[in-house]
Amino acid sequence: MSVTNLEELFVHTLKDIYYAEKQIVGALPKMAKKASAAPLKKAFEMHLEQTKGQIDRLDKVFELCGQKAKGEKCPAIEGILKEGEELMGEIKDPETLDAAMISAAQAVEHYEISRYGTLVSWAELLDMDDAISLLEKTLDEEKETDAKLTELAEEKLNKKAA
Ligand SMILES: [Fe+2]
Ligand SMILES: [Fe+2]
Repeated sequence: MSVTNLEELFVHTLKDIYYAEKQIVGALPKMAKKASAAPLKKAFEMHLEQTKGQIDRLDKVFELCGQKAKGEKCPAIEGILKEGEELMGEIKDPETLDAAMISAAQAVEHYEISRYGTLVSWAELLDMDDAISLLEKTLDEEKETDAKLTELAEEKLNKKAA
């Protein structure tokens, strides 16, 4: 990889998040299957569908850059997902497992929020209006998902307190 300007850095980061989204599409069904609280299961299933749409948006952004859509191995997302998976494998208690999956999923969302936030700023600097709106849509979905997960984590706390 050689990056000499912001356009190339933008495309490099697109490839990074493209790879990450594909890994996430692989991880979410497993998490939905393991979730025991119905709203959590639903949230994972819904975000799986959203994530597929996000990949379609990335395809369009690649096209706007005149590039073929392609992933580039992203060790950051692999580490986050691997850590989550290891933790999931160690927990038998269903409620504790749900809590662990919420925390793992939030780590993923925060990673995505950071990447898409950067991509939106760079698209602004590069005057890529169509890319900005596509990337902003996805950024909003990631933020909503993160907020939803916080809500689900707190619901559990409230139940415990009641
Ligand atoms: Fe995503
Ligand atoms: Fe996400």
